[in-house]
Formats: sequence, structure tokens, C-alpha cells
Amino acid sequence: MLVSENISDVCAVTENKEHFKGEGTKLWGGRFSQKTDTFLDKLNASIVYDKRMWYEDIQGSQAYARALQRAGFLTEVEEQEIQKGLELVGQELELDKFKLHQSDEDIHTAIERRLKELIGLPATKLHTGRSRNDQVATDMKLWLKSRLNTLKKYILDLTQHCLISLSTVASSPVQILVERAKTEVGILIPGYTHLQRAQPVQWSHWLLSYAWYLKEDCDRLLQVQERMNIMPLGSGALAGIPFSINRSLLAKELGFTRFTYNSMNAVGNRDFIAEFLFWASLTAVHLSRLAEDLILYSSREFGFVSLSESHCTGSSLMPQKKNPDSLELIRGKTGRIYGNNCGFMMVLKGLPSTYNKDLQEDKQAMFDTYDSLESILQVAMGTVKTLMVNEESCTAALTPNMLATDLAYYLVRKGVAFREAHHLAGEVVILSEKQRVDMPSLSLEQLKSVSEKFEDDVLKIWDYKHSVEQYQTVGGTSTSSIIHQIHVLEEWLHFSEEN
Ligand code: ARG
Repeated sequence: MLVSENISDVCAVTENKEHFKGEGTKLWGGRFSQKTDTFLDKLNASIVYDKRMWYEDIQGSQAYARALQRAGFLTEVEEQEIQKGLELVGQELELDKFKLHQSDEDIHTAIERRLKELIGLPATKLHTGRSRNDQVATDMKLWLKSRLNTLKKYILDLTQHCLISLSTVASSPVQILVERAKTEVGILIPGYTHLQRAQPVQWSHWLLSYAWYLKEDCDRLLQVQERMNIMPLGSGALAGIPFSINRSLLAKELGFTRFTYNSMNAVGNRDFIAEFLFWASLTAVHLSRLAEDLILYSSREFGFVSLSESHCTGSSLMPQKKNPDSLELIRGKTGRIYGNNCGFMMVLKGLPSTYNKDLQEDKQAMFDTYDSLESILQVAMGTVKTLMVNEESCTAALTPNMLATDLAYYLVRKGVAFREAHHLAGEVVILSEKQRVDMPSLSLEQLKSVSEKFEDDVLKIWDYKHSVEQYQTVGGTSTSSIIHQIHVLEEWLHFSEEN
């Protein structure tokens, strides 16, 4: 199609008369005797971005033509001509041969205008009972429904990578993956709260914590998709259709499971966009937090991971730099995605019922969010897949004071109430600080000066591996719990991929 993606380009196109085959007539021109102001024309034109829905618009029109024929508003011949004509328009759009007219406000107008040029009279019957109001809501749902499946696939792949990166063979079958995961489990990192070293955890546990976020994003996506599966077409401008169109069949043909029951609601409802924008924001927030962790972990100060050069860039001034741009862009795009969400809620908040032109703002928010999320999912996938874990640096970052909680649990096992045990472990921390030694260097006598409950077996506390293996209850950071998580996630992945 001879229209640029860029909004300023389309303004130039609007001004460049040579670009157009003819002035054309506006769909709604009947009651107007004055020409539309040029600036309003520019502002009103959504074709520059809504052309992305051309396929769905044609799909919707083809199904609608069949519905009109069934209802007796088109003869079989007319319907056939419309079908063939729409095919041709689709080919022109696909091959970028579609010539734009100045009157082509949006993709709906453009396609109908071209159809009339190609087949004449039958084209003028296609809009019987239909309005761009129910048409646009239907097109958007069709577009989003199919794109959400693509996003879901990326999320599943990324989740898979969180599992796979535990293994050295990226495309291993499940059994091998789990076996490999078992052998690679054991790399410990400091777990943080408030970004302060808290307790030792397994590197795999950290990775899987994001797999769980992504699983929830997928679960939520299914719900959003389910609610989106309601066809607005057949609602007219706002009052419905005065002709007997079989909406149930129409919905089925377009792949919707249901259709709307209130025409006023149908044409003014953009909750599916708002839900998509929120869902995308939350998914992006998860990617952004993953990115933030990895930005920290890949810094010299932490050194837990090394990012692949394929996912970093350098500095034009400082030769030594290897910057985690992939992760920073994920974090940055998240702000943008969230901005689209907030912005669109502001568009909606004061609108009177049914369709208002403000709703046209839905498209840029939807497309931009889709593009941004798709790109950060792809980049997140690559970054997680190609990074290397530096086991030595991870281990070196573990410090004995991270075992203070285990010291309290030791006392709990000796019969001390937890609050008391917590207090006593705190006293051991103070003692070690006063003595200027790490806790494991305190003698049994020194420990006994805090509590008589300390015995020889306290020594086993000062072992990080022993520490993590204590957390065996489902959800904890022990190896058995991690293997369990992997099983559950893999089962879910297989189920999700099959469905
Ligand atoms: N381009 C318009 C939009 O996206 C299509 C609907 C136009 N409806 C109308 N009543 N002017 O919102």
C-alpha cells in the first residue's frame, strides 16, 4: 500500500495531490456542501496506522457479504462479485499496489471505495445495516485475537528458555532437560530482599521464579482472549440492525465463540483494548524486573552472569565498555507500554456512551504496545538463552551472615521459640561484629555465652549447600523442590503448546 508508517509522511501524502488517483467522495459526504478543513483531514485520517488491519477488514466484509446474501439483501451473483472483488483488493494490499485516495479516511473506507471501483454497484450494497462503528470494533478484535497467539508463543518460548538455560543443550527433550537441570542445579547465589543480601538460594530457583511470572501471564492471557471472543458486528451504528442477519452464523464464520447482546455497548466498548494494554503492561513489568536483575548481576560489582556480546553494545568513547542495552531497552519499553495503558484509560474515562471519535486513539496504543511487547519478548529470549552464569563469582558473593536465619532455625530445632531464637541469633551477629570475625569463627564457648542450646552440631549450619537443602517444602530452594518445579512447569508447557 502506498502509505508510509510514519504520521508526518502521511501528512505529506495528504498534501501531495499527485499521489492520489482522484479526490473521491467521502462515505458520509451526502449531507455536506463544504470541503473538510485540510488540518482536520490530517487529524481525522487513521489510514496510516489502521491499514495494518486490512486483512481482518476484508475477512469481516467477506463474512458480512455472505450474511447479507443469506438474509436476501444480495443476490448470489452479487455476493460472488463482492467476494471476488474483495480478493482482488486484498491482493493489491498484500502486494503493496493499493493506491490511496485523499478521501480514504481509514482502511474501511479505502477498501470499500476500491471495491466499488473494481466491481461497481454490488459494492454499494455491502454496508447494508453495517456501520464503521461495529466494523472497526470487529476488525480490532480479529486482529488482536490472532496476534495474542503469537505473543503467547513467545512467552512459552521464553519460559522454556528459563528451563533450558539450566541445560547445556538448548533443544533437549524433557527427560534430558530435567536430568541436565538436576546436574546443574547447585549453583548458589545470594538471594536479596531490599537489595540486601538475605539468604542463599539456588540460581535455578531465581530463574524459575521468572518462569512462574510468565506462566501467570499466559494464564491471564487466556482469560483476556476468552473475553475478547465476542463479535460486535451486527450492531450497526449503535441501535442494531433492522434486517434479519444471522449473527450467530456470522460470529461462527469469523471465528468468534459468541456475539454481543447490546448494540450500544458493542460499538462503544473498548474494554478488550484496555485489558490487552494492562495485560501487556504487567507482562512487560515482569520482563523489566528480570532485566533489572540481570543488569545488576552482569555488572562488575556482582559478576554473577556474563551477557553474550550478541546482546550488548559498546561505547563510542570508552573502549572497554560492554553495555547491557538489550536489558535496558526491555526496561525502557516497559515504561512506554505502560504509558499506552495509562493514556488510553484517560481517553476512555470521560466518554459519553457508544462511539465517539476519541476511540480512534485505541489503534496506535494497540499496535505500538503489540510491537513493543513482541520485540522485548524476542530480545529477552535471546538474552536469557545466551548468558553465562559465573559460578565462582556467585559463590564468592555468599557471606556467612546470610546464615543467621539458619542459626535461629537451629535453635528452634533445639526447642527454642522462634521469637527467642531470632533474638539470640541476632546477639550472635552482634558478638561476631564486636569480635571482628565471621560468625563461623566464633568458638562454641562464645556461642554458649549467648545460649546454652548451642552444641557441636552447630558447625553444620555454616555450609551454604546445607542451608539451601533445608528448604524442601514445595516452593523452597532445595534441589528436590526445584526439580519438582521443573516437572510442573514442563507439564504445563507441553499442555499449553498442544492447545
Ligand atoms: N476510523 C474510525 C475509528 O477507528 C472508524 C470508525 C468511524 N466511525 C465514525 N462514526 N466516524 O474509530
